[in-house]
Amino acid sequence: MPLSLFSSHRKAVLTRCHEDYSTKMRQRYAPWYHAMDAQQGTSVRLDGRDMIMLSSNDYLGLAFHPKVVEAAQEAIRRWGTSTNGARPSNGSRSFHLKLEEKLASFLGREACHVHAAGYISCMSAVAAFAQKGDMIFADKNVHSCLLDGIKLSLATVERFSHNNPADLRTVIAASRRDAPRMLVIEGVYSMEGHIAKLPELAAIAEESSCFTVLDDAHGFGVLGRQGRGTVDHFGLNDQVEVICGSLSKSLASTGGFVAASREVIEFLRTHSKQTIFSAALSPGQAAAAQAALEVMQTEPEHLERLWSNTKKYIAILKGLGLDTWETETPAVPIVLGSKERVYRFWQALLEKNVFTVLSIVPAVPVGKDLIRTAISAMHTDEQLAQIADAMAYAVKKL
Ligand SMILES: Cc1ncc(COP(=O)(O)O)c(C=O)c1O
Repeated sequence: MPLSLFSSHRKAVLTRCHEDYSTKMRQRYAPWYHAMDAQQGTSVRLDGRDMIMLSSNDYLGLAFHPKVVEAAQEAIRRWGTSTNGARPSNGSRSFHLKLEEKLASFLGREACHVHAAGYISCMSAVAAFAQKGDMIFADKNVHSCLLDGIKLSLATVERFSHNNPADLRTVIAASRRDAPRMLVIEGVYSMEGHIAKLPELAAIAEESSCFTVLDDAHGFGVLGRQGRGTVDHFGLNDQVEVICGSLSKSLASTGGFVAASREVIEFLRTHSKQTIFSAALSPGQAAAAQAALEVMQTEPEHLERLWSNTKKYIAILKGLGLDTWETETPAVPIVLGSKERVYRFWQALLEKNVFTVLSIVPAVPVGKDLIRTAISAMHTDEQLAQIADAMAYAVKKL
């Protein structure tokens, strides 16, 4: 019998999909899911037009680095394309152990575990360690993967104002004292570009016996010595129990990691469902991440260029009177405050061949609708000049 979408006993879930307002709006205005036809570094081709990519998280510009590309190709030749299984069963390979050792040592940790996605790593970095009856204190603006980890843990959560140590203190003071406690924060906030006020937050966590989980997806590769991240930037390695992050940003791959003491990582390997029941990181992706990690340590010019580009870019935006939400990093929002303004601005940039991503409520707080941009070490001076022209044009279209 043919499936009728409009029969009188239509399934409720199908009706939900059919009627969903957000999906209809997304399809009508099509701001997301654009598929590029080609890419070379920060240049992409979209619908037959060459554009500058201004929203990739390839901060150090290593995704096309010859050593990184060659390492991934060689790993695929040697190990095939997939691990075809989870780490505890048939999916573990010696290259996972090598990458984990190198990441742990780079981050000054005893151990590390890598997963096939940063989302899985960060979600499990919370879900594995917190339990029903625990208290979690989480920054209001943490990434969705951390919120999912909190939900999965079944712990009680209290949110504190974004990057606000005084509010964290108040929230902790008002909470139960007898429960195990966890603090969940990011090192660099992905939308805002803010650096966590880690010295103050870590001190409060220490005083109140909070186990701290810090997601450094956007701090790794960007802050600290050779890009060791936010914890290293502040020299607070002994005050943060878990650093989790992504391989898909500065490490020019896909996948994620959780780094901590050996005991903590072994606990994760025993209890984290996402770790136990999901296929292991693939050979090409592990090799790309490992090669990028080596490049980070041997070629400082990428980090230097990233910061020099970041300063030039933020100066361009400020010169045009744009609100960059006081970003301090290469993750640079342009806050425009309403979805209509954001859409106009984004379209104007596209007209000028600059590709960005718009981010609107509920992905950002009310009144903070923004264009999310990110600068890379690979952007050339010529591209920065073209970006400046495009921004000036977009400002006039507001
Ligand atoms: C703060 C943060 N954590 C985790 C992730 C997830 O990483 P991935 O995209 O590698 O799964 C992201 C991705 O955008 C992120 O911004």
